[in-house]
Amino acid sequence: MAEHTHSTTLDHPTTLQPLNLLHVDASSRGDDSVTRQLGSRFVETLQQRHGNVEVTRRDTTRGLSLIDPDWVGANFTPVEQRTAEQHAVLAQSDALINELQQADVLVIGSPLYNFGVPAALKAWIDQVARVGVTFRYTENGPQGLLSNKKAYVIVATGGTVIGSEIEFASGYLRHMLGFLGISDVTIIPAERLNTNSDEALETVQRVINESVSALHHTLTQAA
Ligand SMILES: Cc1cc2nc3c(=O)[nH]c(=O)nc-3n(C[C@H](O)[C@H](O)[C@H](O)COP(=O)(O)O)c2cc1C
Repeated sequence: MAEHTHSTTLDHPTTLQPLNLLHVDASSRGDDSVTRQLGSRFVETLQQRHGNVEVTRRDTTRGLSLIDPDWVGANFTPVEQRTAEQHAVLAQSDALINELQQADVLVIGSPLYNFGVPAALKAWIDQVARVGVTFRYTENGPQGLLSNKKAYVIVATGGTVIGSEIEFASGYLRHMLGFLGISDVTIIPAERLNTNSDEALETVQRVINESVSALHHTLTQAA
């Protein structure tokens, strides 16, 4: 279901720690998809710059289950009391969460569909948001259990302005990632592509370059 690739470049030091990157796609289009292409461009730019990046690619439009009564029942049964069947019901969620836990960097490509996130991406979110695993409730409110991750979210629209009051994807994704503990979120807007494509794609390229430079800088400082 997920593809894994590994790359190193010769002109950059490979003494840097390998970086695990999870690239999540949500477009129902194939190779023509803008968000798939821009996500790949982000990953390639980072690979050229950083040199040692392990990439796992997750296509949420393929093979993800919607959560159903069996899933909810299994999830709310204490781990030690779960039947073998209930463990099996949660196996996909466990695998998706494991990918997310392993990632240092998360790149999500999300088209705007009907003013929100694609159903496929919402299905992924429903699978990875697990009480007691990726978040928990405390006396002081909810606490995300994913830590030390940076997320880059490419949001593409045909005509809707990103950040406007009728755009329910970017704010939702920022909130949801924060809820799970990923508060370092950069939204990369590819907006109004129907009429504004050249300008929008130029802006995206600039933001990708700036984001990758800043990330590389942070990683080399920390090394
Ligand atoms: C089912 C569907 C719903 C869409 N809904 C919206 C929308 O609500 N607002 C908008 O600006 N664009 C909308 N679009 C346009 C896409 O967001 C836009 O074409 C985007 O670039 C698609 O990304 P992709 O090329 O990665 O698939 C919609 C497209 C599709 C296929």
